[in-house]
Order: sequence, then C-alpha cells, then structure tokens
Amino acid sequence: MSQQTKAVVEESPALPPAPAPARLTLDGKEHELPVIVGSEGEVGLDISQLRARSGAITFDPGYGNTGACESAITFIDGEAGILRYRGYPIEEIAGRAQFTEICYLLIYGHLPTAEELKDFENQLTRHTMIHEDMKKFFEGFPSSAHPMAMLSSMVVSLSTYYPKEGRDDDLDLNVIRLLAKGPTIAAASYKKNMGQPVVYPRNDLSYCSNFLHMMFSVPAEPYEVRPVLDRALNLLLILHADHEQNCSTSTVRMVGSSQANLFASISAGISALWGPLHGGANQAVIEMLGRIRDDHGDYKKYVDMAKDKGSGFKLMGFGHRVYKNFDPRAKILKATVDEVLAELGVSDPLLEIAKALEEVALHDEFFVSRKLYPNVDFYSGIIYRAMGIPTNMFTVLFALGRMPGWIAHWREMLHDPRNRINRPRQIYTGPPQRPFVPLAQR
Ligand code: SDX
Repeated sequence: MSQQTKAVVEESPALPPAPAPARLTLDGKEHELPVIVGSEGEVGLDISQLRARSGAITFDPGYGNTGACESAITFIDGEAGILRYRGYPIEEIAGRAQFTEICYLLIYGHLPTAEELKDFENQLTRHTMIHEDMKKFFEGFPSSAHPMAMLSSMVVSLSTYYPKEGRDDDLDLNVIRLLAKGPTIAAASYKKNMGQPVVYPRNDLSYCSNFLHMMFSVPAEPYEVRPVLDRALNLLLILHADHEQNCSTSTVRMVGSSQANLFASISAGISALWGPLHGGANQAVIEMLGRIRDDHGDYKKYVDMAKDKGSGFKLMGFGHRVYKNFDPRAKILKATVDEVLAELGVSDPLLEIAKALEEVALHDEFFVSRKLYPNVDFYSGIIYRAMGIPTNMFTVLFALGRMPGWIAHWREMLHDPRNRINRPRQIYTGPPQRPFVPLAQR
C-alpha cells in the first residue's frame, strides 16, 4: 500500500462550549442532562446516563429525534434544504468535481491534491478486477435475480477472499478494494440479468466510463462512452455519495459496531437501501410513473390516491424524514434532466408526467401542510432511463454512489474511542410472568 494514499483523516473543528445542562423531573426527582452543541449549532441532550440515574429510557420509534453519534462527515439542515459534504455545499460540488475526489473527501476528510487524487485513482484502477472464482457465484443466481441481491451477496463474499483485517493497511486496502470492485460486481449483475458474458474492467477509462463500459460493451462491439453519459453518471454518484445517518448508513454503523468486517457491514447497508421507502424508491418512482402513463396519464388520480390513507398508495419520490423543504439534490437533478435528455436526443413521456405530478403536489394542501417535496429519487430514474440503465439497476447505482459515505461512516465509527456495540433498549408490552404449560396439558 503506497504511503501517499494512507491519507490522515482531517481533525474536526473545535465544538462550541456546552450550555448549562437541561433538567428533567421524573417521579419528583430532578435529573440533569448534559447538553451538547454541534459545529452548526445543533443541540442534543446527552441521555447516556439517564437509565443508570433514573431507571427510565427514552422512547423514539424510528429514531426521528435521536442522535446515534457525533459525525464530522455530512451536514444536513432539513428545514433550510442544506446538504454539505465535509463543509462543502452540494451545489458547489455538483458539476465541478470527479466522484473519485468526493470519495476521497468523504473518507479522508479533505479534498485531495492532484498528487493524492492521482495516487488514489491509480489504486482504484489496480483493484477493479474480482477474483476469477467469483464469477462462479454468478452462475448460481437465476438470470431473473434482482441485482441488489447479487450486489449484497457478492460484497459480503469479498470477505472470503480478503479475510485478514485489523491492521490499518488492510483496512485502507479493503476500502480501495470495495470502491474499485463495486462497479465491477454491479455491471456483472446486469450481465447476469441480460444473459451476456461479463465484461472486464479497463485501466484506461475513468471510474464512471469504466462502469458504463462493463455494463454495455459486448464481445462483438466495445461500447463507446459518450462524454454526456460520463458526466451524468459522475453527477448522480456524487449526489448520492452520503446523507448522514439515513437508514442504510445507520445499518452500516450498527453492524460495524459489533466489529463485523467492512464487507459484511456494507453488505448489510446495501440490503437496507433496497427497501422501496429508502433507496428502492428510485425504482418505485419509475414504476409509479409508468403506471400513470398506462392509466391514460391521469396523474391527478394518483395525487388523490396518495392523499387517501386507505389507498395504501404513496407518491414515490416525495417526502423525506429530514428535508421539510426541497431536497437540494432533487433541485440539481431537475435542472440537469432536461439538459441530459436533450444532449442524448431522448424525450421521455414519464418526465412530463413527473413534472405535472410535482406541479400539482406542490400546490396541494395535503402535501404542502406535511412539507412533502420531491426527494433525490424523484428525477434520478428519468436520467438513468435515458442512459439506458434498466429500472432494476437504479438502486444498484444508488448503492455505488453511497459506497464512499458508508465507508466514511464505518471508519469514523471504528476510530471513535467512545464507540461500543449498538444495543438499543425497548418498552416491553408483552404478557406478565406465567407458568409454562407442558404440551401434554395444553
Ligand atoms: C431516501 O434518510 C435519508 O436521508 C434517505 C435518503 C438518503 O439519501 O439516504 O435521502 C434517500 O430514502 C429518500 C426517500 C425515498 N423514499 C420515498 O420517496 C418513498 C415515499 N416517501 C415516504 O415513504 C416518506 O416520505 C418517507 C419514508 C421518505 C419519510 O417517511 P417519514 O418521515 O416516516 O414520514 P411520515 O410517514 O411520518 O410522513 C408524514 C406524513 C404522513 O401523513 P400523516 O400521518 O401525517 O397524515 O406525510 C405522509 C404520511 O402518510 N406522507 C406521504 C408521503 N410521504 C409522507 N403521503 C403520500 N406520499 C408520500 N410520499
């Protein structure tokens, strides 16, 4: 492992002084709760000693009000629609950086110099191939296997080839291996679905062009990557690169907190991302838009369904646990989608339906009162479609984008001296103690 890529993670800025503790009165007893304030002024009540001192725990299904950790990687202000990677606003990064630069920034804490980036990219290039025996794993999958199932399985299987971990060198090398082999595995999953032979990576292509080459080249005809496609994929991966303690990243931290290895932790994150309420939403958005198209384009009917609790229907790509304003990523994608489709010479009726849906929802009291805005998944699928990416690969592309964010959080957790195995509590609501009745007496 060359020394240049063992970048030192940048130290976090000093935090503002803590204000006076909060006071909680329970059963007539007063308890002090230390208050912690983040570098952007977020206030947290430290309840880490609450149970020991009061016997009580807090209760917060879905953790909407619970901070699991301190983190210096990504800042989101949901009310203001702000997203920053290591302090850099997403609007200033988008369209001006390579995805590999942002991988480096998120994982090592600072933007790489030209020298650091060159060395990092060389490392990635040298590790894009998977062990030849891993091709046999794909032979066992049915051709209809969902590529997210194959991605999750193959990523955890990387730990069978690289079992040694613990020394920092191995950890840093496994980070390179995972970032480099992710696109190779993802493209191979697509080839499995297509019944086509796996295409090997090339060392002369950029990270994004190499993935598109492995996706769309066939033995009889190498795929020529158009610059607009490389740029579009680069932007999409950057916009998905991290999003603080979302469901899949929290899963990676949860699994990693037991000291499970990097590959196993990231594989769990991939599985969590698959759900249609999370990363699977980009696939669900396109399926929803297709359903509306096939239903005479009657998008108002679906807006009304989304407002009817009993319908069980949600407007996919709308709403967010944190953003109660526009998702800044959705704003960037909406501004980009027309340009990409025009440059590709593609027109997509689903885009017109998406825009009409958005227009109606943004002026409808049901959505306005609940602060439901388009999120990152609302427009991303339209661009993936225009690039020729099949719908069932959309969440795989989300996973490739999120890989550096998952890795950065896993490393941050690993290097946090306060880190210990995550083990939430519960409020028991089951039956009180009762005597066991043997089968013969039941
Ligand atoms: C991602 O956390 C992250 O950072 C995630 C992510 C990332 O980068 O990692 O940003 C990526 O997962 C984006 C979200 C993709 N998911 C979808 O687009 C699926 C559709 N959205 C919803 O399922 C929902 O908005 C969630 C899951 C995104 C958020 O769920 P919450 O915070 O639990 O919201 P909620 O269910 O409490 O909603 C509040 C109200 C409810 O109505 P009431 O009970 O108040 O009457 O809004 C309603 C909900 O029923 N609502 C919707 C809706 N989303 C919320 N109603 C219709 N359509 C929707 N999409």
